[in-house]
Amino acid sequence: MAFADYQNEIYLSGLGGVLPSFPMDFAELEAKARVALPPSVWSYVAGGAGDEHTQRANVTAFARWGVIPRMFVGAAQRELTVELFGLMLPSPVFLAPVGVIGLCAQDGHGDLATARAAARTGVPMFASTLSVDPLENVVAELGDTPGFFQLYTPTDRALAESLVHRAERAGYQGIVVTLDTWITGWRPRDLAASNFPQLRGHCLANYFTDPVFRAALSRPPEEDPQSAILHWTQVFGSPLTWDDLEWLRSLTDLPLIVKGICHPEDARRARDGGVDAIYCSNHGGRQANGGLPALDVLPALVEAADGLPVLFDSGVRSGADIVKALALGATVVGIGRPYAYGCALGGTDGIVHVLRALLAEADLIMAVDGYPSVDDLVPQALQAL
Ligand SMILES: Cc1cc2nc3c(=O)[nH]c(=O)nc-3n(C[C@H](O)[C@H](O)[C@H](O)COP(=O)(O)O)c2cc1C
Repeated sequence: MAFADYQNEIYLSGLGGVLPSFPMDFAELEAKARVALPPSVWSYVAGGAGDEHTQRANVTAFARWGVIPRMFVGAAQRELTVELFGLMLPSPVFLAPVGVIGLCAQDGHGDLATARAAARTGVPMFASTLSVDPLENVVAELGDTPGFFQLYTPTDRALAESLVHRAERAGYQGIVVTLDTWITGWRPRDLAASNFPQLRGHCLANYFTDPVFRAALSRPPEEDPQSAILHWTQVFGSPLTWDDLEWLRSLTDLPLIVKGICHPEDARRARDGGVDAIYCSNHGGRQANGGLPALDVLPALVEAADGLPVLFDSGVRSGADIVKALALGATVVGIGRPYAYGCALGGTDGIVHVLRALLAEADLIMAVDGYPSVDDLVPQALQAL
């Protein structure tokens, strides 16, 4: 079945008097999620760093590119499959790691909802270190769909090793090390509400179930959560330097992906240090305001990566955005906030809808504009506006 067929499904249901239960565009999705989520979770998810200029710029950057339509192509069938680390993926998108996705679901188990949505769509899940449910329980819901474990590297190396080895044993297919969040950026919305979910003990399951983490506590987290949270604040983020890359690489034989890369020199150095992929992202503008839109740095990173896969996220809100990021060289494109909002509105079903809608739009743009395969999406398919 083509991704585009989702629209036929919707129109046919309409003939039977059934309207779609979820929003069909991002603006409505966002507006409804705002109502559905508790205010503190809403501001945590929707908010970003500073006055959120970079967050908005991530989105508007896409509007500066236009896809050039080509006719007489007859793109009746489209090929959206991509290969990543030897895995054949049915589509060129993935679910970016979202800590607190757990809290976005009405039942408080959004990590499991996301994994189930991944299982239903074949869209890989990048599971955050910060989750309500432990990484082993999350991967168990993925079925045949690949999962990748996103590591926030703790200051305690033994704990980092333990988390990576647990992810390996559980069956994750790669390790994503996020480099831009060893410290939290200045986030006025969260500061105004004095709300940081982890300090309230949320989304720390991977730590509280970890033998190395637990061994460092005098009493288990179930008996003394406050001390466990305090210990978490002390070990959460390690300000890594290039000297740490060799150690990170030595932790696993799984594909190693570094997230948060925005400078070609960093991409080159990471490549030389033995990583398997570069992940171009500015964390959706949540970490440092005043930066460049992630899309603007993508082409130079693709060049510097010199054949290594380049994963991309930050600002993707539509199928058109997916097409443009692919044309600018992304190997696969990460969905962030949109699926968190889908999760808020309908758990697994809401996430599945968001993914299917994004992919249907991307597929239809490729059909209408005459780009039958992802390989046809090259920089020449775009014109700068
Ligand atoms: C609420 C929220 C939590 C996030 N948590 C993580 C995380 O735990 N690990 C991580 O690497 N990135 C995290 N990110 C960043 C996403 O992986 C991704 O880079 C970002 O959402 C892309 O921006 P966009 O959602 O505006 O498209 C988070 C993003 C949001 C919105």
